[in-house]
Amino acid sequence: MKPLNVGLLGFGVVGRGTWDVLRRNAEEITRRAGRPIRINWIATRTLDRAREGTRGAGEVNLTSDPAVLVRHPDVDIVCELIGGTDAARTLVLEAIAHGKHVVTANKALLALHGNEIFKAASAAGVMVAFEAAVAGGVPIIKALREGLTANRIEWLAGIINGTSNFILSQMRETGASFAEVLKEAQQRGYAEADPTFDVEGIDAAHKLTIMSAIAFGVPMQFDRAYAEGISKLSRLDIRYAEELGYRIKLLGITRRARVDGREGIELRVHPTLVPAKRLIANVEGAMNAVLVKGDAVGATLHYGAGAGAEPTASAVIADLVDVTRMHTADPEHRVPHLAFQPDQLTDVPFLPIGEVVTSYYLRMRVDDKAGVLADITRILADRDISIDAMIQKEPDEGQFQTDIIMLTHQTVEKNIDAAIAAIEALPTVRGKIVRIRLEELN
Ligand code: HSE
Repeated sequence: MKPLNVGLLGFGVVGRGTWDVLRRNAEEITRRAGRPIRINWIATRTLDRAREGTRGAGEVNLTSDPAVLVRHPDVDIVCELIGGTDAARTLVLEAIAHGKHVVTANKALLALHGNEIFKAASAAGVMVAFEAAVAGGVPIIKALREGLTANRIEWLAGIINGTSNFILSQMRETGASFAEVLKEAQQRGYAEADPTFDVEGIDAAHKLTIMSAIAFGVPMQFDRAYAEGISKLSRLDIRYAEELGYRIKLLGITRRARVDGREGIELRVHPTLVPAKRLIANVEGAMNAVLVKGDAVGATLHYGAGAGAEPTASAVIADLVDVTRMHTADPEHRVPHLAFQPDQLTDVPFLPIGEVVTSYYLRMRVDDKAGVLADITRILADRDISIDAMIQKEPDEGQFQTDIIMLTHQTVEKNIDAAIAAIEALPTVRGKIVRIRLEELN
């Protein structure tokens, strides 16, 4: 049968991985897709690398001009693997305008411009597939969009940035500081020279924005996401959390909530204490995992490699196969981009972080004298914040100050903010209070 022709935009790590896996498993992939899928065009700035990588593979057209590829009549699917948002947006819209289906691994592009891109794709009757944009090789988009489609999804929580998870795992295992482990992660090639997107929660917020839209049937609204990273985490808190039976993970959490009788959606990325006995707390190194809670199925956990050439290629090729199978189907018989029919997306508001309800870990440095604890607990009680657990450390030899660590029950974030301000104003409390959110995930 006539092959479906793919144009690769980009021949970096994932482009090369896609090329390799597609060739290695060509026979099996063809048996599944119903017709061969072949890469017949590659646009890249590194033509020598592409020439070398594709040597002996018959006719592949190479160009350094991506505009040629996205308009070329012999390309059926444009596979966007260049990353970034500006050029990628222009090229993807151009491909759609020329009637091409699009497969992309670009989470930032979709989180920021997904609504515009899906609208253009629906108008043009083409598909935009993006399994590789979230959690690399883990088929979480497929699971949310199709496998869990019977469920009303209540919440999901994910470790969706491998770099941060690697850093947190190393900090816990070795007792090293954030700065020391980041340096190691950069030397091992896990972290970029500029690690801001990974360690400040922005990459995770892009991925969470996409999952939230699919889980709840709402438009993408990255600007409503709260993102707090791991760069200010101290090894002391990782140790104290462990003493209390918790591990600290950078989690992306999105949840249906009710505030004053109205529906809202939480969309937040931040370091989170998770009970050490939960499976997700034991996801270590650069791996990813997403825990999804549906009303019918209960909790499901989706785990695997969140990055890397072939794990990401696995997701890209799964999309290529899906597009190939659905290529000739009427657009209304295809799976909708955001799982819900486009006219069924709802405008449930995303909640500001102050309205979020969660539990908290608090660490404070206090004078070690009578009445200090009573003052602190009074401030919490006045705001209806209940303490779940507490430890007070022995003061160091010759010291008259000590650390108190408290875990609270659930409360609205603005309440804890007010309590923290009041406690910090006490003359017996020294410096700033460390506050980390806590989720039981049960
Ligand atoms: N930089 C990402 C991570 C991988 O560290 O998980 C690509 O999304």
